Amino acid sequence: MKVVIINGSPRTQGFTASVLRNMEKALRDRGAEVDLIDLSRVSLSQCKGCCSCYTMGYCPIDDDGEMISSKIREADGLIMGSPTYASNVSGYMKVLIDRGHFVIEQLLQGKYCVTVATGENYGSSDAGKILDKLILYSGGRRVSKIVRNAPFNSIRTDMGVEDPEALKASEKLFTAISKNRSYPLQAVYHKIVFSFGIKPFVRRKGKTYQGVMDKWKELGIDFR
Ligand SMILES: Cc1cc2nc3c(=O)[nH]c(=O)nc-3n(C[C@H](O)[C@H](O)[C@H](O)COP(=O)(O)O)c2cc1C
Repeated sequence: MKVVIINGSPRTQGFTASVLRNMEKALRDRGAEVDLIDLSRVSLSQCKGCCSCYTMGYCPIDDDGEMISSKIREADGLIMGSPTYASNVSGYMKVLIDRGHFVIEQLLQGKYCVTVATGENYGSSDAGKILDKLILYSGGRRVSKIVRNAPFNSIRTDMGVEDPEALKASEKLFTAISKNRSYPLQAVYHKIVFSFGIKPFVRRKGKTYQGVMDKWKELGIDFR
């Protein structure tokens, strides 16, 4: 079982990292292969809006973008964690969302996902909703979500805090992957968004979206 964990905080020892590292340890202890990526430690530049990924199926920017998407594509599970910045996800996380081939290419089809949003006062539930929506629109199955507030810099990984909520979410994720759980309500919601929104949109684009259609073919998605 492979799980990718994304830390969207620039603070690799911060609150978000503390929740995510609890999950990393719990999943490793259960025997999962876990890859935790701190977005602040990789090379990931902003999307230039050239749209060539839609035509070619890959991004021409020479950095770690394609490497991260490939890791996610090969994983069974994905955990996305972000601090709340102005009631939204962090800039690091937003750049990955823009660059990562999530929605149009249905990167998360069949993958089991957990979202983590940390904050200090207001807006963390908004940041969490942005990640939840991304997962549902990209074909993923949201197993669990964590939205947590604490005073800035009061919780750090070096405090070694045991986090029962993170451990519970890891356990749910492990079980969902092992048992190939289904989520009928999410599946219906995704079917509506995909069939009435994404699919007709991509079909109208024709050859300019050849890269997207090739990816769908690989995933066994019917684009007729
Ligand atoms: C630029 C910036 C903007 C922030 N905006 C919000 C906000 O809108 N709502 C909120 O609850 N917390 C906000 N915070 C607080 C962080 O989201 C919160 O402390 C978070 O847990 C930090 O996570 P980290 O330690 O993993 O970096 C902001 C922090 C920064 C640095």
